[in-house]
Amino acid sequence: MHPHVFNALHTSDQKELEELYRVWATNYDHDVVDVIGYVGHSITTNLLVKYLHNTKAKILDAGCGTGLAGESLNKFFYNNIVGIDFSQPMLDQASKKNIYKSLFQADLTKTLEFEDNSFDAIVCAGTFTCGHVGPRALFELIRVSKAGGYIVFTVREQEWDLLPYDKTIVELEEKHLWHCLERFSTEYNVAEEVNCELCIYQVH
Ligand SMILES: C[S@@+](CC[C@H](N)C(=O)[O-])C[C@H]1O[C@@H](n2cnc3c(N)ncnc32)[C@H](O)[C@@H]1O
Repeated sequence: MHPHVFNALHTSDQKELEELYRVWATNYDHDVVDVIGYVGHSITTNLLVKYLHNTKAKILDAGCGTGLAGESLNKFFYNNIVGIDFSQPMLDQASKKNIYKSLFQADLTKTLEFEDNSFDAIVCAGTFTCGHVGPRALFELIRVSKAGGYIVFTVREQEWDLLPYDKTIVELEEKHLWHCLERFSTEYNVAEEVNCELCIYQVH
């Protein structure tokens, strides 16, 4: 496994994770796309554009990192994108791409500084993974989504097995907060033969 990827999956706290992304930010795109064959950004955006046809839609890229998902969305002419991430050095890389309407430092495990019903769609690629953000963050993503909005996200397969994603997703369905459009296992880090669960839900 690529050493930065290994370290990113094995940090002991958020401070260590932030430090890892500070050091990794400039080489992140090369390492994940060219070396480990990461496709989380493209599979999420490809699935979203199947459902979201308005290219002016306001999209939140939650855990945007260096902006790979923003770049993918931009290829489909979506350009009303807000990015959030807790790593300022990752946001600085995203900013250089001139894709995002705005970029903010924010912690997805806390209450977000957005009004209820703010976004037409939310993309969260590669961020529901070991030691990063757990399933409780889905409640907050739903809060900031408009009714009828889409939330598309990946969950690394070993994290899916470890944390109560299934339970949380069912809880959100039972509370009539969203319903499933598609959910399936698919390639994630192709060169490392790691899969993820790819999910798209529509908010009520
Ligand atoms: C594997 S990267 C994925 C980045 C991007 N979405 C992509 O597809 O390349 C995970 C990102 O999650 C961010 N992250 C981790 N924990 C976070 C948290 N609690 N709140 C916000 N962002 C977080 C990291 O800073 C990093 O940019």
